[in-house]
Amino acid sequence: MRRAKISIIGAGNVGATCAHWCAAAELGDVVLLDVPQTENMPRGKALDLMQSSPIMGFDSKVTGTNDYADTSNSDVVVITAGIARKPGMSRDDLLSTNAKIVSSVAEQVKTSSPNAVVIVVSNPLDAMVQQAFRVLGFPSHRVIGQAGVLDTARFRTFIAMELGVSVEDVSAMLMGGHGDTMVPIASCTSVGGIPVSQLIPDQRMAEIVQRTRDGGAEIVSLLKTGSAYYAPAAATAQMVEAIVRDKKRLIPCAALCREEYGVGGFYVGVPVVLGSGGVEKIIQLKLSDSEKAAFQKSVDAVKSLVESMEKLLAS
Ligand code: NAI
Ligand code: 2OP
Repeated sequence: MRRAKISIIGAGNVGATCAHWCAAAELGDVVLLDVPQTENMPRGKALDLMQSSPIMGFDSKVTGTNDYADTSNSDVVVITAGIARKPGMSRDDLLSTNAKIVSSVAEQVKTSSPNAVVIVVSNPLDAMVQQAFRVLGFPSHRVIGQAGVLDTARFRTFIAMELGVSVEDVSAMLMGGHGDTMVPIASCTSVGGIPVSQLIPDQRMAEIVQRTRDGGAEIVSLLKTGSAYYAPAAATAQMVEAIVRDKKRLIPCAALCREEYGVGGFYVGVPVVLGSGGVEKIIQLKLSDSEKAAFQKSVDAVKSLVESMEKLLAS
């Protein structure tokens, strides 16, 4: 059986760490690509990873390159290319630079891997995945954004820390954009099957939700030289696994929502079934009135981000 081919564009912190998780889990053979100015950096990281394989016991091949020909006919392409947040910068500050980078990457992927499922990670995520979708011209189920798995993992981690229980017993769902307006869905948050409202008082939950919304900024303020990458890369690898192993995971991803939730043609975080075809289904939850209002606020923030990007790209 042919192994899956996974190409990761951008061999920086998130890209290289994603290559690490994907290779270690033997999800397929991994190609790490970065711009020619980085010269042999992707080759160096790939070789280093390959040399860990006899110790860690995996058979995936990892190669590094500056040439899209080496990524040809990938099954999955992950786009992490771009600049990352530094202290004082918001995700939106990245908008102009990363929109141009993601457009140029998507142009290349369009011809080199025309049948791939593409996972966009670059920030600001909801605008970058919209832009990649436009440039790629692929069906929307094959262009997906990673944010919800990370945000939900942060939320689950904080709930587990609060209660002193295993993260494995915490289930949660967050919707909306990857930013300050993300929406926790209370009816989908439970610990060992017990609704979280029975375990954590509302006021404390509000603080945990706020810490989750600020989760990216908290790591930036600690690292100072860049933004989070272990958890973002693990979240992306989970999506890669769902696709290459056709796992039909029900997880939150940024998917193109047309009539779903009345969004009208924008990428936003929603629960989806993720399998070999990419987004195989968007799950429509019954939201409470306050969740509907919060989700609409988040969708409005995504729309205004996309409008700003369009103005910047047109200028
Ligand atoms: P990084 O700076 O470590 O790596 C970015 C890499 O992209 C660099 O190696 C750079 O040379 C490369 N690059 C730039 N232009 C390129 C091009 N045209 N083609 C190929 N490669 C190119 O940054 P890091 O930490 O890996 O973050 C990458 C992106 O992911 C950032 O935009 C960051 O904000 C975003 N991010 C998104 C998350 C999410 O949940 N959606 C979570 C964490 C990061
Ligand atoms: C994060 O949430 C920077 O979006 C990135 O960590």
